[in-house]
Amino acid sequence: MIVDLRSDTVTRPTAAMRQAMMDAPLGDDVLGDDPTVQRLEAEAARRAGKEAALFTPSGTMANQLAIRGWTQPGDEVLMEAGAHPFNYEAGGPAVIAGVQIRPIAADRGLLVPDAVWPFVRPPNDHFAPATLLCVENTANRGGGSVYAQATLDALCEGAHARGLKAHLDGARAFNAVVATGVPLDRLAAGFDSISFCFSKGLGAPVGSVLCGPADFVARARRHRKLLGGGMRQAGLLAAAALHALDHHVERLADDHRRARTLYDGLRAAGYDVAEPATNMVYVTLDAAEQAAAHLDTEGVRCLAAGPRVIRLVTHLDVDDDGIAHAVERFAALRRAA
Ligand SMILES: Cc1ncc(COP(=O)(O)O)c(C=O)c1O
Repeated sequence: MIVDLRSDTVTRPTAAMRQAMMDAPLGDDVLGDDPTVQRLEAEAARRAGKEAALFTPSGTMANQLAIRGWTQPGDEVLMEAGAHPFNYEAGGPAVIAGVQIRPIAADRGLLVPDAVWPFVRPPNDHFAPATLLCVENTANRGGGSVYAQATLDALCEGAHARGLKAHLDGARAFNAVVATGVPLDRLAAGFDSISFCFSKGLGAPVGSVLCGPADFVARARRHRKLLGGGMRQAGLLAAAALHALDHHVERLADDHRRARTLYDGLRAAGYDVAEPATNMVYVTLDAAEQAAAHLDTEGVRCLAAGPRVIRLVTHLDVDDDGIAHAVERFAALRRAA
């Protein structure tokens, strides 16, 4: 048996999703007439409570378009030190927007408003002006942690009061929606823009979306083209995303339940495990690379997220048997140590 817990991006499209892709009416989205992409963008904007939306090939591109769209070269963008654009987007903010990042340390990846504001410095020719705050929810490196709505509201209000825009990197925003019961439009209400991904917990093969005001989305559409992200019969992919929105949101609760079972099992086996808020379980152990390589040979695929950390992620293609198998193999590894 093989259980793949490396990421929630490893899912294969279900038979029903593939059928939806086959049946999708298509056009040329670069020429603006793919009806399925249009339907997806309208639906995403509606769900996020924003004026407009843009389908993008990846969450990385959606974040980069947001940063490019809200800033000028030489600006500073504030975000948590573990945030995706600072750590895993290939230096994109510096290259694409010409901005610098101010990484702010926070426990479990969750910014505390009063710890952010000292980084918004007064106007001074020596300083790069902070013009954008990016917030990640759920916070990946924070262990899939979830913000309290009051904190999100305070971050957005504080940013706006200081003249900053606020962008939500909601790659896994629906995990937060399902964990808290707060609807997406409420979650995103204070933010000027939100991106979210279809290709993570929602189980689509490709694609993300960037939502915000119509003029901002129009700018993002031009920048997407500039980056080579214009896609022609993209309705094939948009159909998978629409199917995911219709069928794969509520079931994220199953992923969260399985992450909790995994956490309980690993703790019972004696591991140092962070309590999961959503679909991620971070385990602290010695020689993480070596342990992950060994577990791979036992049919448990996982990623070393650092020299002493393994990340395990539950998703659509992980069932209860897979979780039991993972717990059993981890326990055997510990007994052998
Ligand atoms: C929080 C967060 N934002 C953005 C991304 C980027 O998404 P993509 O891999 O589609 O570029 C990821 C990817 O894992 C992520 O975890």
